[in-house]
Amino acid sequence: RIAGPCGMVLFGVTGDLSRKKVMPAIYDLANRGLLPPGFSLVGFARRDWADEDFAQIVHDAVREHSRTEFREEVWNQLAEGFRFVQGDFDDDVAFDQLRRTIEELDQARGTRGNHAFYLAIPPTFFGAVAAQLKEHGLAEPNPGQWRRVVVEKPFGHDLASARELNDILGQVFDSGSIFRIDHYLGKETVQNILAMRFANNLFEPVWNSNYVDHVQITMAEDVGIGGRAGYYDGVGAARDVIQNHLLQLMALVAMEEPTAFDAESLRVEKLKVLSSITLPKRLDLSTARGQYAAGWAGGQQVIGFCEEDGIAKDSATETYAAVTLNVETRRWGGVPFYLRTGKRLGRRVTEVAIVFKKAPHQPFSATATEELGQNAIVIRVQPDEGMTIRFGSKVPGTAMEIRDVNMDFAYGGSFTEASPEAYERLILDVLLGDPPLFPRHEEVELSWKILDPILAHWAAKGRPEPYASGGWGPAGADKMLARDGRAWRRP
Ligand code: BG6
Repeated sequence: RIAGPCGMVLFGVTGDLSRKKVMPAIYDLANRGLLPPGFSLVGFARRDWADEDFAQIVHDAVREHSRTEFREEVWNQLAEGFRFVQGDFDDDVAFDQLRRTIEELDQARGTRGNHAFYLAIPPTFFGAVAAQLKEHGLAEPNPGQWRRVVVEKPFGHDLASARELNDILGQVFDSGSIFRIDHYLGKETVQNILAMRFANNLFEPVWNSNYVDHVQITMAEDVGIGGRAGYYDGVGAARDVIQNHLLQLMALVAMEEPTAFDAESLRVEKLKVLSSITLPKRLDLSTARGQYAAGWAGGQQVIGFCEEDGIAKDSATETYAAVTLNVETRRWGGVPFYLRTGKRLGRRVTEVAIVFKKAPHQPFSATATEELGQNAIVIRVQPDEGMTIRFGSKVPGTAMEIRDVNMDFAYGGSFTEASPEAYERLILDVLLGDPPLFPRHEEVELSWKILDPILAHWAAKGRPEPYASGGWGPAGADKMLARDGRAWRRP
């Protein structure tokens, strides 16, 4: 899988996403020999830069964030294809210049008219950029060439705005040329959910409401809001990650087997699950949200969310969100899915835990099984990538005593190959025109349909419950599960 002749135009070159993810991923792909030799990268921004200044920015980003060794010869070849175009998004002259630059690269680097436009910019500018691309003839490829557009979340802030955004892009690009990045789908461990479920015969027989008691999906972060106040305030945890990453994870865990591993078959199955999701009637009892207060992180004292730079003192933005979702299908009826995410929690961990019902009968005495919990399959998405199966085992000794043990699979123990970064995988897929790992617009819409009533319910309730930094979230989240007679796992 090596990309054919092509290039990329990057909008938003000074942003975090470009520096930390996109630029390093491009270098890493080149370093692994997965980009065409004449690959070109055009930066578009307002700064008054020459090509060399742009190359320096990319260089610094690569040196700081790339995952592979720095090799002069790879860098030099890549950097020969760097160009910079200065301008505003409403600047016709700049977009004319962009067109000429692309034409020049098609000759000089052999990119042959194949270009991806990566919009690493706030969605409010998608419309302006898309219109310019269209007007300047950049969105329409000649026969045999391709033009694609790459957008990042947030795909809107509710259903209505997501539709609007989609219409804006849809007026310029056909749906097969729009690539929406949800970087969780680029993670090895997330793709492995499908491999594990559907390549084996061991798990599917118990993957249903006959055996499963409930499912917990956790995405915990130890970091706070950092320098992202401008983006995060008013957005919050549910829009930031539940609407996309966690609902995508849930869809992969809950969906039926696709007829093939292609974009269309996956889409059909994901849509079926997402459209079967319902909310419990009492949102006050089945959801929880919180906002981090001062506390501890990594042995350091840290400030609360409302003290962070750029956050309103009385901000009602949640930094923790937990929701209960039902899936109204034969496979999952009666099995709640609990999703939670938060910043400034005890540690960074993302996992999916399938928690099983207790065995229907025990031949062992009550004292023998006193410490036996529920069986669980835990897919460890990150950072300790792998999978754990938890079950009861006899404690060595003369008496019958049964206690929980873990059986572990760790990627590092079984494979010598390092996992590529999610962005490497996804950018390569864009350049190859390979769409299975990109959510389609219908999935985005359905995700908002699930979330919108919860967001409206919260908006009417004022400020979220504070929780101490370094803990495991607000008391309300524990109560939410306790009401169902359950408890969150402590990863
Ligand atoms: C992003 C969110 O999509 O994912 C961030 O906007 C979050 O708030 C990040 O920190 C986490 O990504 P990862 O890959 O580190 O789990």
